[in-house]
Amino acid sequence: MKNHSAKVGQHPQVRYDSTMENSNVLSLSNLDEWLSRAWRNVPREYQWLVLQTWATSASRRAWIESWPAVPGGLVVDLGCGPGIMAQEIATLKSCVVHGYDQDAGVLNLAQSINRLFDNAQRVKFRLAEISQGGGSDKANAACVRFVAQYTDDLTAFMAQVKSWVTPGGFIAVEDVDDGYLVEYPQPPAAWRSAIEAFQQFQSGPRGDRQVGRKLAQAGVAAGLTLSQISVNAAVQAETTSPDSMTVQFDIERIEQALPGMIQAGLITERQWYEARSQYRASFPAFVFTSAATIRLLFQVP
Ligand SMILES: C[S@@+](CC[C@H](N)C(=O)[O-])C[C@H]1O[C@@H](n2cnc3c(N)ncnc32)[C@H](O)[C@@H]1O
Repeated sequence: MKNHSAKVGQHPQVRYDSTMENSNVLSLSNLDEWLSRAWRNVPREYQWLVLQTWATSASRRAWIESWPAVPGGLVVDLGCGPGIMAQEIATLKSCVVHGYDQDAGVLNLAQSINRLFDNAQRVKFRLAEISQGGGSDKANAACVRFVAQYTDDLTAFMAQVKSWVTPGGFIAVEDVDDGYLVEYPQPPAAWRSAIEAFQQFQSGPRGDRQVGRKLAQAGVAAGLTLSQISVNAAVQAETTSPDSMTVQFDIERIEQALPGMIQAGLITERQWYEARSQYRASFPAFVFTSAATIRLLFQVP
């Protein structure tokens, strides 16, 4: 996952692709069609996330469908970001979804997508800190995707999430674990050094830290019952060119964190340019890549 910072009010409104203005009925294929074009127009720090969300939609939707039923119920999407998963949950589980985020700017983006698909009856977005708890807005279920990585104390975090859900409900969590990243053949040495610098940067308090594998223990320590856990690999094996989406995706992922990496003395600008140019020069090649997230389902006793 990436290290975008969440600062209040820093994002402009998303610009729409005008050809989508008439597609104001939410269907998941409409959403996909919109995502396939609009990811380039969302604020830069969210482009990677929106693209990842679009690229992994099939397996995530199968996972959402496998959750217990919540017909007419309320699901809270905590740290909802652009709220794309909130839209998917409302559609696939026929329920109401309230998305909460601490970042007013990203909520503008979520609201814009909601208006575009005319879905404000079923999906609402509000500014909130997860630690403030659900108050009277207790839900039948909660979803937290790619949020745990931003917290220092995973057990305290899972206890906060639990406080949003009624007893008998469930919590669905998905997060990153870069320890499950496999690439074959190995990329050039300069690129591998850049990746090591990136992972070192990510191992700081707001990065990956192989959070995925730690969530089961944290949830159980917070008083939840673990009912499902899986490693979800996004696998590709194909002839890859220097300008293919996956190569751009990998470069973009690091460039977002680059200022911080340089500031932390983990890489110099020159080393980065060399790594990037060696990496690009290693294509075209047939490449196997497997990047995984961890998915968990907890019951609230
Ligand atoms: C990587 S994004 C993931 C967004 C969304 N869940 C998704 O999967 O597309 C993480 C989001 O969590 C939000 N976030 C992080 N910590 C939070 C907290 N303590 N309370 C509310 N939102 C939080 C950030 O503002 C950001 O929008």
